[in-house]
Amino acid sequence: MSITASITAVGGYLPDYVLTNQELETLVDTSNEWILERTGIKERRILKGEGLGSSYMGVRAVRELLQKRNLDPMEIDLLICCTVTKDMVFPATANIITDEVGAKNAWGFDLEAACSGFLYGLSVGSQFIQTGRYQKVVVVGVDKMSSIIDYQDRNTCIIFGDGAGAVLLEPDTTGHGVLDFVNFADGDGAKHLHMKAGGSRKPASVESVLAREHFVYQEGKAVFKRAIPGMTQAGQELLRRNDLTADDIAWVVPHQANVRIIEGAVQNLGIPMERVMMNIQRYGNTTDGTLPLCLRDYEKQLKRGDKLLLVSFGGGFTWGGAYIKWAYNGA
Ligand code: UT7
Repeated sequence: MSITASITAVGGYLPDYVLTNQELETLVDTSNEWILERTGIKERRILKGEGLGSSYMGVRAVRELLQKRNLDPMEIDLLICCTVTKDMVFPATANIITDEVGAKNAWGFDLEAACSGFLYGLSVGSQFIQTGRYQKVVVVGVDKMSSIIDYQDRNTCIIFGDGAGAVLLEPDTTGHGVLDFVNFADGDGAKHLHMKAGGSRKPASVESVLAREHFVYQEGKAVFKRAIPGMTQAGQELLRRNDLTADDIAWVVPHQANVRIIEGAVQNLGIPMERVMMNIQRYGNTTDGTLPLCLRDYEKQLKRGDKLLLVSFGGGFTWGGAYIKWAYNGA
């Protein structure tokens, strides 16, 4: 029997501070009603505290996962940190996380694919298991979006939040795990969603800071238009390639960017909302954190053999999906 990469544990971390729609009403010209109706978001979490970056949340997500699986961190072979908000430009946040959790035998790297980062990371990580090279790979999805959000810009500040999720991948020979994935990219999308300064093209300067160019720039409508077809394409492709119908899918796990995007995509896939994981109401869009945090929130309801369809769309543009046969009973 061939080897597949099974998710054998999930962990997560959400900061304590709750940023409500009501508080946002005091920062920008918006309303609770508008945000709820247009996005479905009620509140999001914000990491407060001097000097705390994405690794702070990533470390806690990995520790939870290790504890759940009763695993010695020295057993981890590889850790992939999917993020757009690294602690520093270099070194990799993955290295900071492995050091702090005591995964001294692991190597790691950061992977950047915006909201599809976790799916890209899952695709990469699963290959190291499938080839038989490694026994334990951790994929972390984490973002401190509050560090790159302009709380004077109502187009973006209402959507994003901070959080981390992580999964452990281990070999499986019983036909469970990540059975397929599809990933797509279109660099032409960069113009609609990016950060103008702080990279090598436009390093930080007094002018770039004053022009507020170190924050997320998003043309929401342009992204919205591509997101539903993109997530639909990824889901349909996986159903077709794996001879599945919508009825076979126990859960859709969609990127949590906007409840209207999620509804549009799953409607196209013919899957009812009762079988869709959602936590956008409480956390907003945590970018790389959304998919593993959904798995963590719904873990107790998952049963061995459940067929899951993960789909995502985000900056880049990047989009894709994964078909997973769940390996353990959550309860
Ligand atoms: O995960 C990463 C990828 N990102 C996404 O997937 C995000 C995709 N885009 C979206 O989710 C939506 O486009 C947004 C939530 C960002 C915006 O919703 P929308 O329904 O597309 O609104 P809009 O940008 O078309 O704006 C409609 C109106 C405008 O007013 P006018 O020009 O019609 O007078 C905006 O100025 O709503 C106004 N508006 C707001 N009003 C109250 C925009 N933001 C706000 C706000 N509060 N926060």
